Amino acid sequence: MYNIFQSGIRYIKYWITASNGKGHGIHSPFVFELVTGVLQDERVFYAYANIEQQRALLLHNQQLLEVNDLGAGSKAGTHQQRKVSEVAARSLKPPKYAQLLFRMIQHYSCNQVLELGTCLGITTSYLAAASTEVSVTTMEGVTAYAKQAQSVFEALDLKNIQLVAGNFDHTLHQVLNSTTLFDFVFIDGNHRLEPTVRYFNQILPNLHANSIVVMDDIHWSKEMEQAWETVQQHPSVSLTIDLFFIGIVFFRSEQKEKEHFTIRF
Ligand SMILES: C[S@@+](CC[C@H](N)C(=O)[O-])C[C@H]1O[C@@H](n2cnc3c(N)ncnc32)[C@H](O)[C@@H]1O
Repeated sequence: MYNIFQSGIRYIKYWITASNGKGHGIHSPFVFELVTGVLQDERVFYAYANIEQQRALLLHNQQLLEVNDLGAGSKAGTHQQRKVSEVAARSLKPPKYAQLLFRMIQHYSCNQVLELGTCLGITTSYLAAASTEVSVTTMEGVTAYAKQAQSVFEALDLKNIQLVAGNFDHTLHQVLNSTTLFDFVFIDGNHRLEPTVRYFNQILPNLHANSIVVMDDIHWSKEMEQAWETVQQHPSVSLTIDLFFIGIVFFRSEQKEKEHFTIRF
């Protein structure tokens, strides 16, 4: 994981080199529409308030959870017990990004959704609340997090979520064994190079030309930057968008030349 200084340098470099999202440097109509229709959509949807209310409750919850560490993604240290409030503060995607995923699922009419890394279920709730047509499969290896997430889903009355408990290394192939093609995949778990690339490769046969993969924390560490570069170079990938804290991957067959955009968000 990069230290705060290294992360700061990378963020400044991103901000300087990124397109300002006002059309400048964006010659692709598809990407221009993504920017103006999704990234810059400032509407406040009804579901946001209820989910943020659940986040606020988690942020005030002093209960201790038993934690079995599974990957390099947790920023909460290596303690075996963690407060719900600390996990909520450190591991969940902030509203801005979770709400972007919500809007992407709506905009691109994604129905079959897969998330690697449920944690306490806040981003999962956004994915599930995006549309009544959505069916979310979400995966989590820490049993205590999975239980806490189930309580969040119940509080929000979200019935379109299937939580798969266990280490991705053992559970992912079972999820992918079904014939389901996923329209949208959010990879937000084990933040190391080898497993991230392995999960991406494993998921590929369950994608189609209009699927979208979002990778979390692509500049979190050298390993995650290498994982992002590996994904960008994959022959099936046609278009990637770097928003610094997340990377978006498209596989559009109509796009003949591979393209990469870095956009301010
Ligand atoms: C950054 S958190 C996910 C946050 C969540 N997507 C959100 O924004 O609300 C990453 C989660 O992945 C889980 N995880 C990491 N490695 C894993 C593995 N190998 N198998 C299963 N779960 C794993 C961690 O326990 C943690 O809860």
